[in-house]
Amino acid sequence: MRLEVITDPKAMAEACSVARMSGLTIGFVPTMGYLHEGHLSLLRAARADCDTVVLSIFVNPIQFGPHEDYNRYPRDAERDLNLAKTVGVNLVFMPTVEDMYPQGYSTFVDVQGLTEKFEGAFRPGHFRGVATVVLKLFNIVQPHRAYFGQKDYQQLLVVRRMVQDLNLPIEIVPMPTVRESDGLAMSSRNTYLSAEERRAALAIPRALNACREALERGERIASEVRRAGLAVIESEPMLSLDYLAVAHPETLEEPDVVGSSAVVLIAARCGSTRLIDNILWEEAGGT
Ligand code: PAF
Repeated sequence: MRLEVITDPKAMAEACSVARMSGLTIGFVPTMGYLHEGHLSLLRAARADCDTVVLSIFVNPIQFGPHEDYNRYPRDAERDLNLAKTVGVNLVFMPTVEDMYPQGYSTFVDVQGLTEKFEGAFRPGHFRGVATVVLKLFNIVQPHRAYFGQKDYQQLLVVRRMVQDLNLPIEIVPMPTVRESDGLAMSSRNTYLSAEERRAALAIPRALNACREALERGERIASEVRRAGLAVIESEPMLSLDYLAVAHPETLEEPDVVGSSAVVLIAARCGSTRLIDNILWEEAGGT
């Protein structure tokens, strides 16, 4: 299968429009590149569901804070394109920063409410940058379906909210987090970790499992569920916790007593690397 790489937004919109006008369904996977198995699982799902698979690779500067890792974010276009070929991607969009945000650019998307806590609180402006670039990409590609990993759980909710609020005719398809064999959630940022940090980072999935076990034992007091996870994080001196929260999976409100489902969200720093992870829990037999 031929893979076409396009950098110009107008040319990309044209190529997608040709596919759409020929009656082909478009499945879209937006990424910042440095593809790993998590991204590939989204692309494979798009390949299975849709006629044309579109991948975007763009390290979006406006979703990084001034002291974050925009400059050192890993980039390897050649490797990404080779991987894209292996999973049957048809079109790759790789715009430049100037293409996406030319001189005088002044329009931003602000999803309120959901963006105020957790990642939004620790990374001011992050979700404004994400929502803005995702809407721009959606407008260029106009996909039928777009695939997002649950690893960035809050991002998934923010994108869903934007799609609903702005009446975008796009189905958002959530995909499960892909993990390394030892449980660490896959992330392009894992490449920053030293061997020692990589080992310490495993306390994050262990803490999530401890919370899940507490819920499965029947614990419903949110602070107790949280305490089970905190004990694991605190036993790992190399980790510095930003938040560990037990929240409602749709509203992200933090109940005192957990209902029939919950999301447990963690963000922690390991050396200079910030990692996030989460688990979704549903009561067995629940709806
Ligand atoms: O999840 C990501 O990689 C990014 O936030 C996204 C959705 C590609 C927007 O830049």
